[in-house]
Amino acid sequence: MYSDANEAPNGRGTTIKLHDEQAFAGMRAAGRLAAECLDMLAPLMVPGAVTDEIDKAAREFILDNGALPACLFYRGYTKTLCISSNHVVCHGIPSAKTLKSGDIANVDVTLVLDGWHGDTSRMFAIGQVKRNARRLIDVTYEALMRGIAEVKPGATLGCIGAAIQEYAEENRCSVVRDFCGHGLGRVFHDNPNVLHYGTRHTGTELREGMFFTIEPMLNLGKPAVKVLSDGWTAVTRDRSLSAQFEHSIGVTADGAEIFTLSPSGLHNPAA
Ligand code: MF3
Ligand code: CO
Ligand code: CO
Repeated sequence: MYSDANEAPNGRGTTIKLHDEQAFAGMRAAGRLAAECLDMLAPLMVPGAVTDEIDKAAREFILDNGALPACLFYRGYTKTLCISSNHVVCHGIPSAKTLKSGDIANVDVTLVLDGWHGDTSRMFAIGQVKRNARRLIDVTYEALMRGIAEVKPGATLGCIGAAIQEYAEENRCSVVRDFCGHGLGRVFHDNPNVLHYGTRHTGTELREGMFFTIEPMLNLGKPAVKVLSDGWTAVTRDRSLSAQFEHSIGVTADGAEIFTLSPSGLHNPAA
């Protein structure tokens, strides 16, 4: 079930890796750089911006800082970022398309620094956005933070999912079921799967040294999604607005360490 990350075979395997203090130091540096990348992009998230140009700025920032873009060439993906606007749930592909006033857009970056993955995403409001769009963003941010607040040794993955689902549904938002958070470290998508819905005190027990993402996707309408013919872009079936935030975290002796906090305080740049 669990294994010492230093003894586990390379790759995903079947166990959940438990990491040591050196690994925490690696994740701290990778997570911080990923957060700094989103901070750097914030002023570019304006009406008229070409999403491919935003992707290019991220790629250059990552390479200039001695890291590698983890998504580039991952399972055939050809961009550094995912940029997912409006009814796009996740995995929106940067292109010649421009952002326009009233859009809401998630930017998701994953980089590898000294072998460790930093994976984080935030929502941006482009120009003036409608009240319900802003409300969806705020509910999604708070849902992520409530999920993180559950994290400590002895709690379970179900506690995280339940906290997110309860808060989302109390606020008339739905939780996407088709995508989940994931373990990460030297591996990009590792065990466990972190569901954003569930039942308290069920599922895998959290232990000190686990690393994973929490990355809830919430919709204003129904939770159902479909993937477009490009094989990546996931959209809401009812075309309702969707929002997502993501942090990479480590389980500590008494809680969670968030590796991807914004050094500039841009944790919810739309707020
Ligand atoms: N960063 C995404 C995640 O949160 C993964 C994107 S995979 C890609 O796990 F290939 F689409 F970039
Ligand atoms: Co992720
Ligand atoms: Co991500």
